Amino acid sequence: MIIAVDGPAASGKGTLARRLAAHYGLAYLDTGSLYRAVALAVLRAGGDPADEAAAVAAAHALDMADTEDPALRGSDVGRAASVVAAMPAVREAILDRQRRFAHTPPGAVLDGRDIATVVCPDAEVKLFVTASDEVRAMRRCKELEAAGEAVGYDAVLRDLVERDARDRNRTHAPLRQADDAYLLDTSNLDIEAAFRAAVGIVDSYRETG
Ligand code: DC
Repeated sequence: MIIAVDGPAASGKGTLARRLAAHYGLAYLDTGSLYRAVALAVLRAGGDPADEAAAVAAAHALDMADTEDPALRGSDVGRAASVVAAMPAVREAILDRQRRFAHTPPGAVLDGRDIATVVCPDAEVKLFVTASDEVRAMRRCKELEAAGEAVGYDAVLRDLVERDARDRNRTHAPLRQADDAYLLDTSNLDIEAAFRAAVGIVDSYRETG
């Protein structure tokens, strides 16, 4: 079974996807961490994330172990990730790797922006997780705070809106809800309630095929 979980930044999709994977005994891949790892590699080499040749080279050299680096969570890396993610050649360089991961038995939960639309259009279950801009900004503030990076709410909100616009408006594999994806708005749901709702959706898909 493959479960695709897409949605904008800080929508709660990562937490949800990880819990779904544990619940159904599936592997889990945070595909955003691949783009973040590419961006971090470019930044660490002293390069500019907008330099396409550098970003593509980093994408080809990417090692799955690079996606475990705690430095990936920083807001500067997130911003740079959305820049490299807009480059078709970067996306192409890591596409097969994501597909192979998804198709390795017993299957997987992948979260990202284009899982249902590009990476795994054949996924059995597709969720599009969203939440209001304000709720997402609050969540991201807490996440950054927990990571030891105190950023004000207004700056976080501005950054999220800007990043979403870049993810939605790029020409190649933009963030969008697949026609056959189920929309889950978590604005008024805590993690537990969002998880229960998602399990309900997955189970009903499995029953009806
Ligand atoms: O989910 P995240 O914040 O870790 O994602 C980092 C960036 O990578 C984000 O700006 C969008 C991009 N991304 C993407 O384009 N496609 C994916 N499947 C996952 C992330």
